[in-house]
Amino acid sequence: MKPIIVTLLSTAGLVSANAPSTPSLWVTTTPQSPVPYALKKGNGIRLGDNLFPITGNSSGGAFCIMNTNDAGIPLGSVPGLLFPHVHRKTFENFYATKGRVQLWGQNLETYRKNTSTQQTRTLSQGDFGGIPPGTIHTFMLLEPDTELTGVLVPGGFEEFFFHMSDSNANNNQTLPGAGGFDTSSLAKWDVFPQMDFVPRRDVVNGREANGTGHWYDGPNPLPSNESAPIWIAKNYGPKYLVTDGGRYHVVAPLVTGQQTNNTFSQGTITLSQQTAGMAPPTVNYTMATAFLLQEGELEVTVAGYAPIRLIDGDAVFVPANVSFSYHATAEFTKFMYVTGGDDLDTGLIAKGTPWKSAFYPQQSPASSNKLLWI
Ligand SMILES: *[C@@H]1O[C@H](CO)[C@@H](O)[C@H](O)[C@H]1NC(C)=O
Ligand SMILES: *[C@@H]1O[C@H](CO)[C@@H](O)[C@H](O)[C@H]1NC(C)=O
Ligand SMILES: *[C@@H]1O[C@H](CO)[C@@H](O)[C@H](O)[C@H]1NC(C)=O
Ligand SMILES: *[C@@H]1O[C@H](CO)[C@@H](O)[C@H](O)[C@H]1NC(C)=O
Ligand SMILES: *[C@@H]1O[C@H](CO)[C@@H](O)[C@H](O)[C@H]1NC(C)=O
Ligand SMILES: *[C@@H]1O[C@H](CO)[C@@H](O)[C@H](O)[C@H]1NC(C)=O
Ligand SMILES: *[C@@H]1O[C@H](CO)[C@@H](O)[C@H](O)[C@H]1NC(C)=O
Ligand SMILES: *[C@@H]1O[C@H](CO)[C@@H](O)[C@H](O)[C@H]1NC(C)=O
Repeated sequence: MKPIIVTLLSTAGLVSANAPSTPSLWVTTTPQSPVPYALKKGNGIRLGDNLFPITGNSSGGAFCIMNTNDAGIPLGSVPGLLFPHVHRKTFENFYATKGRVQLWGQNLETYRKNTSTQQTRTLSQGDFGGIPPGTIHTFMLLEPDTELTGVLVPGGFEEFFFHMSDSNANNNQTLPGAGGFDTSSLAKWDVFPQMDFVPRRDVVNGREANGTGHWYDGPNPLPSNESAPIWIAKNYGPKYLVTDGGRYHVVAPLVTGQQTNNTFSQGTITLSQQTAGMAPPTVNYTMATAFLLQEGELEVTVAGYAPIRLIDGDAVFVPANVSFSYHATAEFTKFMYVTGGDDLDTGLIAKGTPWKSAFYPQQSPASSNKLLWI
């Protein structure tokens, strides 16, 4: 028996030595340069309760995505609030992935002139609050298992958090709720405290009492500029149906180039399962692109890498000008997209039609029949 075993082992060794190696997209921590990669839920650079699946370093400076998952307000205690502040250069978007987040916002200039009204929203799972540069804001997590997904543009703002947690930093504990911030250098990190801003507490039906605009009682159109916070209740923003490449997309932009001075876009895509026998199209964007899975299962193939399947909480990053394809391997697969430009969403929206429903039609996208669903 012995000689046979030796023969089998050496054959196996030869095969594996000669096999072409297809690199895996999966890594266990956020890379330090913009290469294609994917992270399972919970993997990535971590700082306390904050996880950074995409950083300025890993996206070539395009954006940072951070997930903050913690217990919110301990039962029976008074909520601590981060001090109200403004970023002059950084766009900061808040998305409740789980639980509830209270977010306040008001444009600084019109706050000073007393010509705008302070706004607040209770963001439940899937709700969005966009804070353009020059907007006073503060927030708190409300539920025992709340996950806030923050998108910060341009990438690199996150260095602030790492600096502030550094025991060598000249921390100053005097700002309320801040837990030790080096106030002497906040401006260097694009953080400008607004200590006279008093967050209003008259919250009725998830928003400030007597506020204007809809919150779960009508549509949330995207504004035409960056002069106020942007609020989109889950599925109440604009949506587009795209029937292309053997699947339906329901594209729901949260911000596009128009709201971000063409610096980035963010939204969600809901995909139908790929039609059997129809290959998903290969795409190639001129800007960095990230997908964060929320529901279902998405297969992503990046040129030169083995295909991977992502489930909820997983992240994939594709640098600019790298070809890839994606398709759903489960019904109603939903993910957040973030791109350093807006060729992904404008390209899809240009091929689509305005769509009221959060669902795609139940009929196969391969069918040539007219849609029955309106
Ligand atoms: C980004 O890269 C710089 C330069 O190498 C490094 O100092 C910094 O710690 C990195 N930041 C993160 C969040 O990894
Ligand atoms: C701001 O404007 C409101 C009415 O628009 C007024 O009631 C209030 O007194 C003003 N506040 C200040 C500080 O001027
Ligand atoms: C800490 O910050 C407060 C408020 O900005 C300031 O008054 C105080 O002088 C600072 N203390 C130190 C030690 O820097
Ligand atoms: C807001 O509306 C309520 C009625 O819904 C009213 O009682 C209250 O006075 C209003 N508050 C303000 C500040 O206008
Ligand atoms: C910004 O957009 C809002 C709503 O889309 C509009 O009411 C406002 O006039 C605009 N402001 C400027 C400065 O264009
Ligand atoms: C928009 O971006 C352009 C350059 O791309 C810049 O010159 C301009 O100041 C920006 N506008 C605002 C309001 O930030
Ligand atoms: C991607 O390609 C576009 C168009 O060819 C080019 O302008 C851009 O500089 C490229 N970006 C990167 C990061 O290589
Ligand atoms: C993606 O597009 C860029 C710019 O058009 C091109 O240089 C590059 O070769 C493309 N990549 C692939 C893999 O097709």
